[in-house]
Amino acid sequence: MTNISDIPALEGGVPVRDDFLVFGSPLIDDEDINEVVDTLRSGWLSTGPKTQRFEDMFADYANAKYALALNSCTAGLHLALIVLGIGPGDEVITSPMTFTATANVIVHTGATPVFADIDRRTMNIDPEAVARKITPKTKAIMPVHFAGRPCDMDPILELAHEHNLFIIEDAAHAIEAVYKGRKIGSIGDITSFSFYVTKNLAMGEGGIVTTGSKELCEQMRIRSLHGMSKNAWKRYTDKGFQLYDTLMPGFKYNMMDIQAALGIHQFERIGKLLDVRDRHWRRYSDALASEFITVPLEQDNIRHARHLYTLLINPDAAGINRDTFAAALQAENIGVGIHFISLHLHSYYSKTFGYSIGDFPEAEFISERTISIPMSAGITDSDVEDVIEAVRKIVGYYSKHRRL
Ligand SMILES: Cc1ncc(COP(=O)(O)O)c(C=O)c1O
Repeated sequence: MTNISDIPALEGGVPVRDDFLVFGSPLIDDEDINEVVDTLRSGWLSTGPKTQRFEDMFADYANAKYALALNSCTAGLHLALIVLGIGPGDEVITSPMTFTATANVIVHTGATPVFADIDRRTMNIDPEAVARKITPKTKAIMPVHFAGRPCDMDPILELAHEHNLFIIEDAAHAIEAVYKGRKIGSIGDITSFSFYVTKNLAMGEGGIVTTGSKELCEQMRIRSLHGMSKNAWKRYTDKGFQLYDTLMPGFKYNMMDIQAALGIHQFERIGKLLDVRDRHWRRYSDALASEFITVPLEQDNIRHARHLYTLLINPDAAGINRDTFAAALQAENIGVGIHFISLHLHSYYSKTFGYSIGDFPEAEFISERTISIPMSAGITDSDVEDVIEAVRKIVGYYSKHRRL
């Protein structure tokens, strides 16, 4: 006889939680709220002194010479490609195990995204697969530091050097990541970070690019605000009225001071927030590693930014596939995410570039099994225990009552 408390809510049992645990809830403090209120009262809502302060803080933290705050990481990736001169006829190699924005911006420039398979243990792009995809048309490699784990940058840098390619890093997940003592944000030509609401530093929306090149930063800054001459955002200050000139048709990608205000104090707490997530991460890994579930790999010589806790369900042992597992966790009132379904399987990419099942076996392996469970500084130790209880209950039940 199955005990009633062992029956998943999906099968009519009682959920582990009464209230829904939101996946990726941010931790906003009074000081963040006060800074936003201060901005609202200052009358200076869009790009201004707080954005500048945030850029300075970020450049310092990332060990980068220059930083430009934007309204998203997507905007940063797009600007990076443009200022590096990438366009029609060019190829950019990236990971299929990423958010659609990574490849979409390549398409927006007129260039072709070329996927290279991942290493299933790290879920990051495999440098050997990258090497096989290089052609005379390749202009850049766009590694994605998936879930907060830095890619193996040394062989990627070697390839870039050998073939004269740019490196644009998608560090949406990886604000705090360090690769062999080198801070992510200080390695490639341009690196783009995200402050979307579920990210490690949450501003609702927002992004920043870092680079070691003053020229590239300046080019991105101009293009991020309509292509207007460089002091454009200062034209309404007390420094005197200034006319602007349009240097090229740019975009509307600037960060607002309201966003920067939300980020400034979170950023001061970034180490503490990482410690909280690190504690949750270790607890999950200790509690969940089993024949049913593969937990994320631990690696030496890196600092993982602990962004997404993606576990892999082993359907044969657990008796359910990932989609049922996700539905079962939601029924227990645990919010989940899927990061990601490999991009080559999405309609646009398969139809446009002729990709099909079997093209990227490692990325497909992960796509079929991955599920992200709540991981943020906004969840408590007791929330983490609820997630563990729910996962154990589900795999315990279905491994005996298979539903494949
Ligand atoms: C890997 C990756 N790249 C880029 C982005 C885009 O970030 P943003 O929403 O700030 O444009 C995301 C967002 O989820 C992401 O996960």
